[in-house]
Amino acid sequence: MTVPRDVTTNVEVLNGLMSERFTCRAYRAEQVPEATIQGILQLARNTASWCNVQPWQVVITSGEATDLFRGALMDEARAHPEGEPDIPFPPGYHGIYKARRQETGYQLYAALGIAREDRERRQEQSFENFRLFGAPHVAIVSVPAEIGPYAIADCGQFVGSFLLAARAYGVDTTPQAALAQHSAFIRGHFEIPETQRILCGISFGYADREHPANSFRTRRAAADEIARLVGQEPVGEAESRVSEAG
Ligand SMILES: Cc1cc2nc3c(=O)[nH]c(=O)nc-3n(C[C@H](O)[C@H](O)[C@H](O)COP(=O)(O)O)c2cc1C
Repeated sequence: MTVPRDVTTNVEVLNGLMSERFTCRAYRAEQVPEATIQGILQLARNTASWCNVQPWQVVITSGEATDLFRGALMDEARAHPEGEPDIPFPPGYHGIYKARRQETGYQLYAALGIAREDRERRQEQSFENFRLFGAPHVAIVSVPAEIGPYAIADCGQFVGSFLLAARAYGVDTTPQAALAQHSAFIRGHFEIPETQRILCGISFGYADREHPANSFRTRRAAADEIARLVGQEPVGEAESRVSEAG
């Protein structure tokens, strides 16, 4: 890929952040300083939204507040394993989407030495979501119900900005729709108004880089598989992205 000289640094920096970021599934206990959390918010709040309505609302925990939430959420998930998300989960994945989902799941299980048919250990690993993978912080992202699906798209962008902003500060993250399975419980726990819909959580902190759950990186489709350029030369050297965060 040729990059014009005057933007080389910007592209290198953004490429570094995007390829170093990964979904962290094991954390060290060390807290993120409050100034760093504020810095992440200062960057992420610049996210674009339709009509600039900025529909994202975030509750962020630290210290004991995280542990209280973690304990209560695990109790809730054990008592009501079925849960009910505010925003319906996908009814199923088919074709290429199913294949990509499976590949990512198998990568995780292989990294952890869990056999594909070992339902019990897969479920145990899935429950780690509710332990927040041991993270010292979680951000709960919610969206006003009244604005509808485009507000959800805006909030998705905010989540993406938060992940990259965190990485810029050397902080690792886990976007987690799994938490939204217990939307009503989360609203109650944090006194989030009934008018808000829980979109997802973002657990964050510093990765345990020795942990096998953090040892693999996911793949991406090549640019020419996801984009069709009309009236231009073919993309040419489209590449699969395999991030190589150390
Ligand atoms: C909105 C959203 C929700 C997600 N929910 C979960 C989740 O509940 N549990 C989990 O382990 N990973 C979750 N992920 C992480 C994805 O599995 C991950 O982003 C994907 O496999 C690509 O891998 P990477 O983030 O390491 O690049 C979520 C990601 C996004 C963007």
